[in-house]
Amino acid sequence: MNLFILANLYLTLRTLFCKFKMVIEMANFKIIAAIGQNGELGRNNQLLWHLKQDLLFFKEQTMNKKIVMGYKTYLSLPKYLPNRDHYVLTSHKIEDKRIHTFNNYEKLYAYLNTFDEDIFIIGGASIYRLFLPYCQEILLTEINDSKTADCFFPDFDKTNYEKTLIGSYTEEKTTYQHVRYLKK
Ligand SMILES: NC(=O)c1ccc[n+]([C@@H]2O[C@H](COP(=O)([O-])OP(=O)(O)OC[C@H]3O[C@@H](n4cnc5c(N)ncnc54)[C@H](OP(=O)(O)O)[C@@H]3O)[C@@H](O)[C@H]2O)c1
Repeated sequence: MNLFILANLYLTLRTLFCKFKMVIEMANFKIIAAIGQNGELGRNNQLLWHLKQDLLFFKEQTMNKKIVMGYKTYLSLPKYLPNRDHYVLTSHKIEDKRIHTFNNYEKLYAYLNTFDEDIFIIGGASIYRLFLPYCQEILLTEINDSKTADCFFPDFDKTNYEKTLIGSYTEEKTTYQHVRYLKK
């Protein structure tokens, strides 16, 4: 076998390996959300609760990760969240060059799946609904309170998940717990 054939064989095998890697390298999608007793997520494009420990938990979990959100949630952010890669599903054009926008859910999903890493789905309701079937893990802040809301976390069958209590907290008379739901 001469050198030319060997080089070609090497290149073919390398291409095949890369393609195979792309197929098996699936992103690990995780939902993170804070909900009330009735699945309340927000109202008038605002969060319903502002709990210090919970905001810290969100920061710790999502730090240096890709975060995926809908346009309304993007608009509701007080500012660009430092050290996180923002992906927004929208038909709008966003001028901020730091924000990656996709106007098509399938394309966003396929693109994110080329990364072999944890990717956080941070809301809102419409984005949770889209990604829920592909999320191995749901990190919920379950708040023992109820408020008037105009958007809700989608229903999901808890019997398909293993539930772990991460921690319980009390802040200004509001009690809540961080719970991990891992798909069985
Ligand atoms: N409690 C929590 O943990 C939490 C977390 C996040 C958000 N929230 C709350 O959730 C509420 C917002 O949720 P939401 O469901 O109303 O809005 P959202 O999911 O944040 O954004 C909806 C927008 O995303 C875009 N979008 C959705 N699906 C799309 C698709 N398939 N293709 C292209 N674009 C798509 C559309 O934007 P265009 O109009 O640009 O097309 C749509 O109007 C707010 O109240 C917020 O405070 C709560």
